[in-house]
Amino acid sequence: MILVFGSLNMDLALSVERLPKPGETVLGPSYVLTPGGKGANQAVAAARAGAETRMIGTIGDDEFGRMALASLQRQGVDVGGIGKGTKPTGCAAILVSPQAENQIGVASGANLEAKGDNVHNDRLGPGSTVLMQMEVPEAEVWALAKRAKARGARVVLNLAPVRPVPPASLKDLDVLICNEHEASVLITSLGAPAGRDPNQMIGALAKALGLTFVITLGAKGAIAATPTEVWMVDALQIKPVDTTGAGDAFCGAFTAALDRRTPIQGALERANVAGALACMALGAQEALPRRQTIEEKLLSSPRAFRL
Ligand code: RIB
Ligand code: NA
Repeated sequence: MILVFGSLNMDLALSVERLPKPGETVLGPSYVLTPGGKGANQAVAAARAGAETRMIGTIGDDEFGRMALASLQRQGVDVGGIGKGTKPTGCAAILVSPQAENQIGVASGANLEAKGDNVHNDRLGPGSTVLMQMEVPEAEVWALAKRAKARGARVVLNLAPVRPVPPASLKDLDVLICNEHEASVLITSLGAPAGRDPNQMIGALAKALGLTFVITLGAKGAIAATPTEVWMVDALQIKPVDTTGAGDAFCGAFTAALDRRTPIQGALERANVAGALACMALGAQEALPRRQTIEEKLLSSPRAFRL
């Protein structure tokens, strides 16, 4: 069982001819209004990847909130832990270039009212996995990590958008997933000299911190280290349409694989495939792949190798 504590947004995604500079207006032919938010995206990704998934978070009492909720329900996510706050539902403005680069601004709204306490103790134990990101108040994330860990649940954190991790909270994490930027901010905050390549340090960090450390490398693939082994997988060869949600697809599929006790290299391969497939349509939740699609694509995709 995966318990996702995180954000729900509605995303307004526009394809534009290029990303604007400050003060500039750019035109584009079309847009989509789709459910998003890293929390909700990862919940959908985990559910589609085959895991029993419950989402805990906060929406506003408004049309965007009803749309965000309905989308999760359609995907078979248990929405019993989603409450209504006093602020409007979170909303993201996303610009996507023809090269599939994006710029995202998020109005957090009701996500700022999310409470980790709504993940009740009776759901936390061996056999449950808590999956979190950093789009809800960080104090709630650290408190839930601590409580979940103490009760024997697996704790997975996607450090996006990047925030400093209190040293005391690192011991509450079982899995930490970052992109390259987030990883380099994190390792600098841990006292490594700025400019050190996180990929060179990942094994040592996993060992020092006693956790599984995963870094997604975009077109270069992904790397995962446990305290005892380091695995790498090359990226699939794709022509991305919109990379929004690729990281969420990765995190959801990785966690779903761990939840059914897939070994680390298998989880890495499946997450790598899911991340690539998520880039093939405009919008974050649209292109999140199902388990069967991931397994089929895996047959012709790069396999993980040991470093
Ligand atoms: O990771 C992608 C997500 O980030 C988007 O869906 C947007 O809502 C922002 O939260
Ligand atoms: Na996408």
